[in-house]
Amino acid sequence: MPPARPTHDQSARLDFFEGARSFTYREIVAPLLAEYPARAAAAGISPSTKEEAGALYTADPRYLFACGIQRNAQRMTWHTAAESVHRDGDGLAGELATSAGPGLELDPGLELPAWYTRHTREGRDDIHLVPGGYWGDQLIGAVYDRGGAAYRLAWRGGYDARPGALHAFVRYAAGAANPARVLDLGCSFGGLTRVVHAVLPDAQVTGIDLSAPALTYAHHLGPDTITYAQRDAERTGYPDGSFDLVTAFLLLHEVPDDVRASIMAEAFRLLVPGGLVAFLDIPPYSALDPARAWFESFDGRGNGENYWECFLASDFPELLRSVGFVDVQDGALDFDEPDYWGSSALWREGSFDPVHRWVTTAVKP
Ligand SMILES: C[S@@+](CC[C@H](N)C(=O)[O-])C[C@H]1O[C@@H](n2cnc3c(N)ncnc32)[C@H](O)[C@@H]1O
Repeated sequence: MPPARPTHDQSARLDFFEGARSFTYREIVAPLLAEYPARAAAAGISPSTKEEAGALYTADPRYLFACGIQRNAQRMTWHTAAESVHRDGDGLAGELATSAGPGLELDPGLELPAWYTRHTREGRDDIHLVPGGYWGDQLIGAVYDRGGAAYRLAWRGGYDARPGALHAFVRYAAGAANPARVLDLGCSFGGLTRVVHAVLPDAQVTGIDLSAPALTYAHHLGPDTITYAQRDAERTGYPDGSFDLVTAFLLLHEVPDDVRASIMAEAFRLLVPGGLVAFLDIPPYSALDPARAWFESFDGRGNGENYWECFLASDFPELLRSVGFVDVQDGALDFDEPDYWGSSALWREGSFDPVHRWVTTAVKP
């Protein structure tokens, strides 16, 4: 059973928030970025950090307006996504509650780490400003599906309406690894995991996550040839050398530094010699000019991202080398998104792209 369609009113709200975010990026953020050289020249400075560049903007009413739209559109989008999924949600909840069998391995004894539940428990903004975080709502998989699509400016088409980046990423990673066994870390409701399965139909594909509700929804979406397992990526319990390729999409910027380090050590242990890790995430500040880096952090601040800043400021390739990986490579992912109403210009016109993608790969020697 699919989640309930949004009501007329909820649809109008999602359209409005999507339009407001798209407008903000195209008509406010992109022009502010284009003005950067002139602003720096007028101030007589040559910023070397994103904070110095940000100081050129923080008193500008257009910038403050963009911040308000970004943050509050996010908050209201997720609220509306949750409200719409929960409308008549009993049928779906009942179906998910009885999900079991091949392809779904939940672990009711798994203790969720304190860093993961802390923000919601302490009444602070949780990741993405989603009420209840990733774990506190039985329908979070369906909520993420709908809210994530709205974040990608495609809520009417659904989360999978713009799979260009994920397909390009998997083809790139698979070409280098030719894997028979793939593990997708932090798979949530299976956005990347389904693409891995589609691109590599003969591979044995496993997605793991801490969130039982997200995994249950992933399994519900199918196909059941994918295995979804509730495991902590820091200590999965799989034997050494169980996989040829380990992937993750948008996991790295969602965990604290020490957790990211343990996940990398675990990924190293899980790979066969010659196996590959491939991660798709947000570009590091070091790859961006100071003004662009400031606006990248704007996106993080507007989205309740608690670990964005520490990840983007870190030297991730060095972390990979420190746990033993070699041949570490990173760079912007080359991809094209299928056209989608109203939002294609945001991608195609080369204006500020809120979801531009950075790929990092490394090999276990
Ligand atoms: C942004 S979501 C990932 C999106 C997903 N990869 C996709 O394809 O749409 C981040 C996910 O990482 C999970 N996560 C965070 N820390 C984890 C850990 N230590 N082990 C397993 N999953 C984790 C969260 O529960 C959440 O579902």
